[in-house]
Order: sequence, then C-alpha cells, then structure tokens
Amino acid sequence: MSADDIAFATPYTNHYFSSLSPAMLRFVPLLHRQHAGPSVLAANGGDRFTYAEFGCGQALSLLIMAAANPNATFYGVDYSPAHIARARAMADRAGLANVVLLERAFEDLRPDELPPLDFATMHGIWSWVPNSTRDALIGLLDRHLKPGGTLYVSYNTLTTWTGLLPVQKLLYDYAEQATGSPEDRARKALDFLESLIAINAGHFKNAKALSEWLKQTKSGDIRYVLHEYFVRHWEPTPHSEVARRMERAKLSYVGTTDLVDTIDRFTMTPETAKALGEVPAGSIRETVSDLLRSNSFRRDIYVRGPVPMTPAEWRQRTRRQRFAMIRLRERCNLSVKFPIGTVELNEQAFRPILDRLAAGPATLAEVAAEAGDTQDSNLVRRVVTMVAAGYVYPASAVDADPGPSQRLNRVIADEIAAGHAHDVLASPVLGSGVRMAASRIVDFAAGKAPPEEGSQERKDHESERATMARLRVGFAPG
Ligand SMILES: C[S@@+](CC[C@H](N)C(=O)[O-])C[C@H]1O[C@@H](n2cnc3c(N)ncnc32)[C@H](O)[C@@H]1O
Repeated sequence: MSADDIAFATPYTNHYFSSLSPAMLRFVPLLHRQHAGPSVLAANGGDRFTYAEFGCGQALSLLIMAAANPNATFYGVDYSPAHIARARAMADRAGLANVVLLERAFEDLRPDELPPLDFATMHGIWSWVPNSTRDALIGLLDRHLKPGGTLYVSYNTLTTWTGLLPVQKLLYDYAEQATGSPEDRARKALDFLESLIAINAGHFKNAKALSEWLKQTKSGDIRYVLHEYFVRHWEPTPHSEVARRMERAKLSYVGTTDLVDTIDRFTMTPETAKALGEVPAGSIRETVSDLLRSNSFRRDIYVRGPVPMTPAEWRQRTRRQRFAMIRLRERCNLSVKFPIGTVELNEQAFRPILDRLAAGPATLAEVAAEAGDTQDSNLVRRVVTMVAAGYVYPASAVDADPGPSQRLNRVIADEIAAGHAHDVLASPVLGSGVRMAASRIVDFAAGKAPPEEGSQERKDHESERATMARLRVGFAPG
C-alpha cells in the first residue's frame, strides 16, 4: 500500500499471526539444520533479542510477543498514525516497557531509529507495496539485520492469482474514480464486477471461480478487502523473484513456517513428490512446488549467513528445543485433515508424544524419554506433524516472567468486553499467543463460576483451564 492508496485512510483489521513467533522463527532454521542467531540465552537476564516488524498494523501480534518475551525488545514500524496510535494505547495500558512503536514510512526510517536486529518480520506487506518500497525494505534489512539474523516474509505467489490480476487492476481503477468513502468506493467496484460477470462474455465467460471469489470477497470484512485488493501495487510474486531480491541483503532462503509443507506425503501424491524431487533443488523447486500444490501464499524464512550444523550440533540443539501443547488434549485427534486429505496417524507413534506434552511443555529429549527408542530425526518429524496438525507449537527455551503477559491479557479481556474482536492471549511459555474464544476469555478474566458439574460445558471449561495452566496463561487483577 502507498499513502495515496484508496485503502490508506481505513484502519486495517487487528489480527494475531502465530507464524511470527520468535520460537517458530528459531525453529525453522533448526529444522533445516542451519545455525541462525541468537540460539543461546544471555548468561544473565534470559532471552534477550531484538525484533522488528515492518508494517505492524495495529500490532496485536507484536504486543503479544513483547508481553511474552519481556527480556527482548520489539520494534513496530508502520506509517499509519491510526495504527500506531491504537498499538501504543494498548501497550501503555498493559505497561509494556519493551515495545518501541514508530510511525514512519519504511523509506524514511533513520539509521539511529532501529538497532541491529536478530529478527525482522513483514507479514502482508511484500505483495502490496510498490517496488520502491520493496527496495527500501531490502535496504533496511541490509543495514539492520545482524549476521545470522532471521527474516520472515509472507507474500502472494503467482499461483492461482494470475487470473485475478486484470480484475484487481480494474477494481482499483473503478474505485479510484467512484465517489464516497473508501468502503463505498470498494463496494461499488465489486458491484460493477458482478454486473460484468453477469454478461458472461470474454474474460467473464463461465467465470465460476471468479464468481465464487467475488461472493466470498463481498461477504468478507471490508477493512481486509480494502487492504488486500484496493491497493495500486498488487503484485503476486514467484518464490524465485523474492529470493533474488533478498540476495541483495545477503539473505538465503531456509524454509517455511508452514510446517505441513515440509512433509511431502501430507501435501501431495507420491507421484507428484517424485516429480518434484527431480527438479533441481533451490528456488526453482520452490516455485514448481507452489505450482504443483496450487499454493497461493507463502510464509518464508531467510537467514543472513546461515551456517550448516554438524550432525552432532543438530542433535544437541534439537534435543534442547521445547514444545508445548496448545490444544485441549482430548481434541488432538489422530485422524488429521492435511492438504492431501484425511490422514490416520499411528497411535503407537503419536500418543506418547501427546501424552507427554499434555502433562506440560517439554524438550525433545524429554519427549524422547516418553516416546521410547526412536531416531531423533523420526521423532522430530512426528513432533513437526503435531505442529502441522495445530496441536503443538515450538515454545521459548525457558518460561518468561508471566507479569507482562497477564497485564496484556487483562487489557485484551477488557477490550473484548468493550466490543473488540480478540481471540488470543499471551503465554510466557510459548513466547507468543494461544487462541481462545472471546466469550471464554471474558469468562475466565471475570473469574466466572464454572458451569454445572457433570455438564459438557463443565468438562470443556476444565480442560480449557488445564491448557491455560500448562501455558501459564493468566490475567492481572482487573
Ligand atoms: C495489509 S497491512 C498488514 C498489517 C499487519 N502486518 C497484518 O498482517 O495484520 C499493511 C501494513 O503496512 C503498512 N505500510 C504499507 N506501506 C508502508 C510503508 N511504505 N511504510 C510503512 N508502513 C507501510 C500499512 O499502514 C499497513 O498497516
């Protein structure tokens, strides 16, 4: 988005994105056997690192992570004053001392405004900004990311979006000449598109997929729709092109936070996997993989100077990696829906892992003690499968002070009561957030009495309490 875009004046939605978690950003290079920093805790003072999110929006993700990693320092950069004002108000109410929020265009950031960074993230930025802004971002990464530093970047791939390219341009041009608020102009453009599809001619002949997309888009949150499609520079990009740009900041692609994509048998048939395996490794294979899987969105991890681990280093580091269960144990069903279809996981292999993690966060070595004699790489694959299923998540190396998380959680509960739509709480175990229904958050924060004994609601309440205790999720007094 650029400042003269139709979407600029309308604040964006304020959602939490778990893939931005520092523990996940550390885990991906480890999974791919690459050193990336910082990998050890500071001798005193725990987990100290610097983290910047470029285009943080109203910064819910950043604030959750700042609360859950109080020894680290988080920078949020966004040129929308409404976004930064909203984020600052929330940070102030929660008394978060480790967040710096900068109302700046990326292009205007002064060198002294950001420190050397261990982590940099940009979610929902790359495909929606002009080329000159991408250059500015590369310049920032080159200037601020430390050697061994990690970058997260998400973007739309060319796969599945190409048919929409001429339509998106038309929608933008139509809205630009329409009158009314940005929301009105966007709605008028979508109505106009509907009238074109009804003519059923040329590009719009039998445009079933486009009709379906339009139906969904019209029923979506207009703030999301505006920022997603009503930006002048909407540019889906193949992996290879992003990788080439990143080289200018000496960044190498390491892997994806979509861990399911690292296990071929859950995402493609054996024949497809075989064909993909024959494509030369590197960015061409990534692009081919997106095409073969019709993957429209990527969440990529790059490292500035990744160094391969020796097998012994990898073993030592993976054994120290902690994981936590983020779901109710009884909802961790071994019949799991993956992109390939429903997969029945082996009870004997997975139950001990889930049982151990239900008892509390554990390192891979601790899980191994429960899971019996198995090779580390097999165990890692199984735990990754549990992460891909949404049951388990990489956790911080040690629990953080729960105070800041509890204060932010109180603010979140108060905001829900005031009509905001939050569904996440900060966990000092995860160093990130855990999802929970808004109504439950309000009930727990208010200390509401549990539902009647013996009822299903009572059981749900108790297991939800157990998850909160496991992840040390709580609320500061109201
Ligand atoms: C689509 S939103 C994504 C927000 C957030 N990362 C998320 O995913 O919810 C893009 C954000 O980038 C900000 N932005 C776009 N171009 C920018 C620029 N050149 N400098 C600073 N911020 C920019 C916008 O204000 C907006 O908050």
